[in-house]
Amino acid sequence: MRYSIGLSTFLLAVVCTVAIGQEPFGKTKDGESVEIYTLKSSKGLVAKIMTRGATLVQLHVPDKDGNSADVINGFDSVTGYESEDNQYFGCTTGRVCNRIAKGKFTLDGKEHTLAINNEPNHLHGGSERSLDKVIWKARPFSNERGSGVRFSYTSPDGEEGYPGKLDVTVVFSVPKDANRLLISYRATTDKATPVNLTNHAYFNLAGAGSDTVLDHALRLNADKYTPTDDTLIPTGKIESVEGTPVDFRKATRIGKRIDSLTETAALGYDHNFVLNKPEGDAKLNFAASLFDRGSRRRLRISTTEPGIQFYSGNFLKGQKGKDGKIYAHRAALCLETQHFPDSVNQQEFPSTILKPGETYRSMTQYAFSVQPVKK
Ligand code: GAL
Repeated sequence: MRYSIGLSTFLLAVVCTVAIGQEPFGKTKDGESVEIYTLKSSKGLVAKIMTRGATLVQLHVPDKDGNSADVINGFDSVTGYESEDNQYFGCTTGRVCNRIAKGKFTLDGKEHTLAINNEPNHLHGGSERSLDKVIWKARPFSNERGSGVRFSYTSPDGEEGYPGKLDVTVVFSVPKDANRLLISYRATTDKATPVNLTNHAYFNLAGAGSDTVLDHALRLNADKYTPTDDTLIPTGKIESVEGTPVDFRKATRIGKRIDSLTETAALGYDHNFVLNKPEGDAKLNFAASLFDRGSRRRLRISTTEPGIQFYSGNFLKGQKGKDGKIYAHRAALCLETQHFPDSVNQQEFPSTILKPGETYRSMTQYAFSVQPVKK
């Protein structure tokens, strides 16, 4: 009896282990090896994630006819990700995603200075050693519910100007029988420090490299947003979306009102929305739904975060990506679940400060489906 349990556990472990692909993806310019892991569901979702930047490199999902397409921007090589053409494609973004005004904040009476990598502000955790640029350790796992990869990285005290040694883990997992990708973040620190992590995938549900996303319909579970100044730093106000071009409470074609924003600093949509959710609720809450009529693919995003940045790919510049596909202006969009931008300087926003002894936790789920044509 003992023997047979041992054997079946062993066989299960073997079956599970082979379910996660692991391959070399290349080397960084400094000669570090980068690995890529493949997660699959039985319903056709395939996700590939690499150790540089704990980055989602490919995400294939079926359309109405069962044909799969890769729905996110990216590159075929590590060199592509290291190039100027990479605008944070698919990466884990931090230590603090989005902008920090003038790259400065004061914590416990001490002023901290960060890289100004998006004049005049700090963007997405810095310029040299932000979380998207470092090599993470990876540990694949699988169980009866599905499979995943746990990425971990220890950011030393002072890296990119942030105080404290930060231990970060990001787990990507895919359930066995559903087209869902779950990303779970955790972090601990030895000094008080701001933390705000997200994934920066650029989606085009018709397949990355197809036209624009202006015909996608978007619904956001947000009655309010955080207006910004000309450098995309929040003014501190929280305003209603009612009567503005950022009202996505009902599913709306992205192209419908975008022209009224082209002349603004954002050049289109680049706004943080305040998600409607019960105070203190730690569960996944519905945040956004994105739909492409041609393929009938739908993406539904749920998160534990209080905000989501909707960025309509206004700075995409026609760079060449995977399979030679061109990523034109507004050919993909980001829906970045997060705490609000510049929270470290905004007393009224939910705090992003992590203290020693606490654990930062955040979760976001991307659920894909195909919407049948209405008869
Ligand atoms: C987004 C941000 C945009 C732009 C982009 C990277 O998260 O909202 O303003 O900086 O990243 O090109």
